[in-house]
Amino acid sequence: MLPSQALLPAVVFALTALQALASDTFLAAVYEHAVILPDPTGQPVSPSDALALMNKNMDVLEGAVKEAARQGAHIIVTPEDGIYGWRFTRESLYPYLEDIPDPVVNWIPCTDPSRFGPAPVQERLSCMARNNSIYVVANIGDKKPCDSSDPSCPGDGRYQYNTDVVFDTQGKLVARYHKYNLFEGESRQFNFPKEPEAVTFETPFGKFGIFTCFDILFYEPAVVLVNKMQVDTVLFLTAWMNVLPFLTAVQFHSAWAMGMRVNVLAANTHNTSMEMTGSGIYAPAGARAYSYNMKTEDGHLLIAKLDAHPHLSPATPPAVNWNSYALSVGRFSQNDHEFTGIIFEDPFTFTELTKPGGILTVCQKDLCCHLTYNMAEKRDDEVYVLGAFDGLHVVEGQYYLQICSLLKCPSTNLSTCGQPVETAQTKFEMFSLSGTFGTSYVFPEVLYSGVQLAPGEFKVLPDGRLISQNPTSKPLLSVTLFGRWYEKDPPHTDQASP
Ligand SMILES: *[C@@H]1O[C@H](CO)[C@@H](O)[C@H](O)[C@H]1NC(C)=O
Ligand SMILES: *[C@@H]1O[C@H](CO)[C@@H](O)[C@H](O)[C@H]1NC(C)=O
Ligand SMILES: *[C@@H]1O[C@H](CO)[C@@H](O)[C@H](O)[C@H]1NC(C)=O
Repeated sequence: MLPSQALLPAVVFALTALQALASDTFLAAVYEHAVILPDPTGQPVSPSDALALMNKNMDVLEGAVKEAARQGAHIIVTPEDGIYGWRFTRESLYPYLEDIPDPVVNWIPCTDPSRFGPAPVQERLSCMARNNSIYVVANIGDKKPCDSSDPSCPGDGRYQYNTDVVFDTQGKLVARYHKYNLFEGESRQFNFPKEPEAVTFETPFGKFGIFTCFDILFYEPAVVLVNKMQVDTVLFLTAWMNVLPFLTAVQFHSAWAMGMRVNVLAANTHNTSMEMTGSGIYAPAGARAYSYNMKTEDGHLLIAKLDAHPHLSPATPPAVNWNSYALSVGRFSQNDHEFTGIIFEDPFTFTELTKPGGILTVCQKDLCCHLTYNMAEKRDDEVYVLGAFDGLHVVEGQYYLQICSLLKCPSTNLSTCGQPVETAQTKFEMFSLSGTFGTSYVFPEVLYSGVQLAPGEFKVLPDGRLISQNPTSKPLLSVTLFGRWYEKDPPHTDQASP
């Protein structure tokens, strides 16, 4: 119903007053946690041993919560698997699980711990939030009994869910999210919900949505939260194993924030032997704070200021029509030598950047990628290529990709192009990359030598060109437009099969 004309001034006044009360900015914290892992034998332990391990991890997380609150943070995000770790079977995980109620029950575990049976983990997290007057976001396990009246009830009579929880500054449970897109092997210990859950909650500093790790590659619930539910900030809990050249944590998560034009608070686990590092506080225009540390095994607290409503902020770049420029120009070049290179088992079409500067086009199927570039100097010992891929990715999950990328090869041997490389020496005076994308979901990545981000040094024009703003301040590893064509994905049920 629309307000009548007479009421309109009052409504406008009320809205303005509400907006004045609500904050324009807030202080966000994420904690990258080096998880203390359970014994690897895989034997089920007693509930008290399980709680003892979880308390060791919560001791560390509580330190981070206190420090974040001391510095004035409004919310802190901790990683997926951050309380009980990994290396479980369904049975050995069970002692770590609690029954987590739907937040509609209006529950403060800190003040009423036994209302839904034993819940020591929820109680402690709730008290951390309440005692420190900060929103606390964590990942734990939910168990829900079921029986033969439910035809999909697992044989052991329960569902087990990988679950994110949020407690507000009073310690009240305000969000519960069951992970939908389980990563390979995770279905050994968890079920996924029958329908994807789009979980949101309101705060004085904007509307929040939440999802977990592998979810970020799919339409539901990640894109739904932004496009349909219109959240301002996404809480992203992950145990992310870095994969160069396109899927390191800091690179892809910051690109998703830019492509979707929302804030993302990304908290990763830290374990260098599993390539797990990379957390950040990402605004649509770039990272406000991030960390990538392959040198030590320490956890790390990040704190940064964000706009509460990024879509209203002048700092947020305008919406992008991803193929507008690329479709308006013809092919830049006919290449004498094109070749196939494999990235994460996907066959890319490559062409080499043989000159210090120039314009190039490389195409695969319906995707043509255009590049204009100038290197600061053309070195004899480094090779860069322009690559295109348009197809269904089928390793560690099935999802349809359209990718344009300028990337450094590990050596001057062209057969190595596409393999991971972490360092480079060539700086670029300028670059401009665009592609004839069939999808409107494209995530722009710029990665410098040492797996470093380049906030403020590049932008995307409304016509879809990813351009440098200045000469690059560090040598370049890759410049990528990572497109996801969700409509071409296979149905969800095919994803989680181990
Ligand atoms: C919260 O404060 C109460 C009362 O001071 C204390 O007993 C409890 O241990 C605290 N818990 C946490 C998790 O901070
Ligand atoms: C990292 O994870 C591996 C495999 O799960 C484990 O064996 C190792 O102990 C972990 N490293 C640390 C420092 O915890
Ligand atoms: C080039 O690299 C490929 C793939 O790593 C390797 O098989 C081949 O032997 C290399 N060729 C030369 C000349 O080094």
